[in-house]
Amino acid sequence: MTNFTYSATALDQLKKSDSEIFTALMHEETRQSDGIELIPSENYCFPEVYALLGSVFNNKYSEGYPGRRYYGGQENTDIIETLGRDRAKALFRAEYANVQPLGGSAMNQAVYFGLLQPGDTILAMDLSHGGHLTHGAPVSHMSKVFNFIRYKTELPSGKIDLDKVRALALQHKPKMIICGFSSYPRELDYAGFKKIADEVGALTFADVSHIGGLIAGGALANPMDVGFDVMSTTTHKSLRGPRGGLIVAKKQFGAAIDKSVFPGLQGGPHMHQVAATAITLKLASEPAFKTYAKNVIANAKTLATSLTEGGAQLVTGGTDNHMMVVNTVVSFNLTGNVAEVALDAAGITLNKQVIPDDPLPPMKPSGIRLGTPAATARGMGETEMKQLAGLMIRALKASDDAATLAKLRDETRAICNRFPVPGVLRDKEEKSAAA
Ligand SMILES: Cc1ncc(COP(=O)(O)O)c(C=O)c1O
Repeated sequence: MTNFTYSATALDQLKKSDSEIFTALMHEETRQSDGIELIPSENYCFPEVYALLGSVFNNKYSEGYPGRRYYGGQENTDIIETLGRDRAKALFRAEYANVQPLGGSAMNQAVYFGLLQPGDTILAMDLSHGGHLTHGAPVSHMSKVFNFIRYKTELPSGKIDLDKVRALALQHKPKMIICGFSSYPRELDYAGFKKIADEVGALTFADVSHIGGLIAGGALANPMDVGFDVMSTTTHKSLRGPRGGLIVAKKQFGAAIDKSVFPGLQGGPHMHQVAATAITLKLASEPAFKTYAKNVIANAKTLATSLTEGGAQLVTGGTDNHMMVVNTVVSFNLTGNVAEVALDAAGITLNKQVIPDDPLPPMKPSGIRLGTPAATARGMGETEMKQLAGLMIRALKASDDAATLAKLRDETRAICNRFPVPGVLRDKEEKSAAA
């Protein structure tokens, strides 16, 4: 095992070459170990992912696709990319896959440019109601290239009303309808979206970045099963892989998407990331991952119920997936940014979040967003979710009391230390020696 950069040898080298970066790395490991990570888009990757991200695949240029490259020396990269594509197709029951996108935003851009023309109309979810920046938020470059029409969630339910989506589709005749979200705690009616798209002749595109792992693990519905044309997912969220993205689609769109990813959008793929994606997809197809996906949702439901019992008001009243959004203003008279800072002081990391039709601005919004993929990857279950909800409620009620927050931080650390972060094996002595 000498070829992994994240090995003891490489780490020793790093320590000698750059003590500042080395120390920051050690402190980050401690931060991730001692605190609880509840940001729903984050996770602890599989340990195998560290091995490949820190491997010699980092050194290789592989522009092109397996069997059709612009550089020599591809006998091993062709193997990993072919495995990655085949595994993505099998896992998501799709005819075509591309595992080269460098990230989630690039992957969505590749879909738009591959299947549409500049100026085409796309119907997608509004950012402030839970959609993603790349779904046409006015601040994103994509909104300057394509004509985005945005659907919203309905108040007071906080849910998507497909009749409203249909009305917008009939009015604007989009070329593509997107479903998918960064902040929406409910399952989507993919068949309902498909029906609307068929009625207006639009392509169907599901961006399942947040829930790709839950779909892979069979815990949530797979849009490809109801005939979606394209689906994209980041690989670093619920899938527990490297940072990156992948696209699956019907075979007829494959050539256009391949060309759009490379040479349209990207140059050389990051083959260490492609290799790490390939092993992630293998692990995500195994029975243990089914259990993981099921537990992520069970944990989210327990956390949601316990928070509600503690006085938190949840957008949509609960969750069907891995995440929830709390209206902290009505629940605790705190804006989301103040809640985020107080919880951070208690060792609990999550993010401030706008709620649907938020009267407050994004940096001081009305809520927080949290989820369970990372906690579940550490092996935490129902008991810990109840304990964490209790800690959160106490922290939110003591947001300006530093002494109480420090005490809560010790309690959080005590829970966390019973559940090591997968793949982070170094002991306390080594960390304190480095600090
Ligand atoms: C739904 C959705 N799509 C795309 C992305 C973009 O991913 P990345 O941050 O890797 O560009 C995200 C990231 O949060 C997301 O939630």
